[in-house]
Amino acid sequence: MIFKNFKKFMSIVIVVIITLSFVGCGSEVSSIEKLKKNGKLVLGTSADFPPYEFHKEVNGKDTIVGFDLEIAKKIAKDLGVELEVKDMKFDGLLAALNQGKVDLVISGMTPTEERRKNVDFSEIYYKSVQTVVVRNSDKNKYKENVDLKNKKLGVQKGAIQEEIAKNQFKDSETVALGKISDLIIALNSNRIDAAIIELPVATSYVKANKDLCISDIKVVNEESGSAVAIKKGNSDLVKIVNETLEKLKKDKLIDKFITEATKLSEQ
Ligand code: ARG
Repeated sequence: MIFKNFKKFMSIVIVVIITLSFVGCGSEVSSIEKLKKNGKLVLGTSADFPPYEFHKEVNGKDTIVGFDLEIAKKIAKDLGVELEVKDMKFDGLLAALNQGKVDLVISGMTPTEERRKNVDFSEIYYKSVQTVVVRNSDKNKYKENVDLKNKKLGVQKGAIQEEIAKNQFKDSETVALGKISDLIIALNSNRIDAAIIELPVATSYVKANKDLCISDIKVVNEESGSAVAIKKGNSDLVKIVNETLEKLKKDKLIDKFITEATKLSEQ
């Protein structure tokens, strides 16, 4: 009798184990399967960051271009799906990712320890340094950190520059704005005195804004580099993204994308 019940019990245990293992497999493949089923990969980005991502009129149509976009296109191609782009404020990107509104974020985003608590990151695909942009007329006045004492220092909201401002420019007043373009407008209209912006982006805006320049003020890179952000638990997608990045690096295509995007941003 006991033996009979034991057999029955064991068969139930086995069925439960098999069912659970299927559920497990299901969630393992789900992110890629889901993407393929939908036939599209939705990219979240903040298109205020030339040459990474920016708006440009292509054949008379407003388009988001840049080297992050070229990377996203390649990932979509390797997955065999279409790419859809959603432009949003930088500080809303990771929430959109975790709410499932976008499948990945490529936005010159630095994989900081803080962000790693909420999302996963690919390998770093590009490294840059920080600069401080000021008005030409102030270039000789603002030469080192202390010169910005009691001055208004602009940063992008939610970006690592916000932390850099607080850690390295303790005596300045930090002004956090949504878009990099807002920082440029604020500089041009004397509402802020300086702004911390990554070198390639600063170079691009300074070229387009003749009254602005990159100052001699030094910024220490606390955490740097850009990586692709992916919702936690989608290790299969992280793996595919890393494989694509690896191929792009090996074929020197990231360098090519950067050169082309820089040219495009200067036209
Ligand atoms: N690398 C900085 C960060 O991760 C700034 C990135 C800003 N990107 C953008 N598309 N505006 O916080």
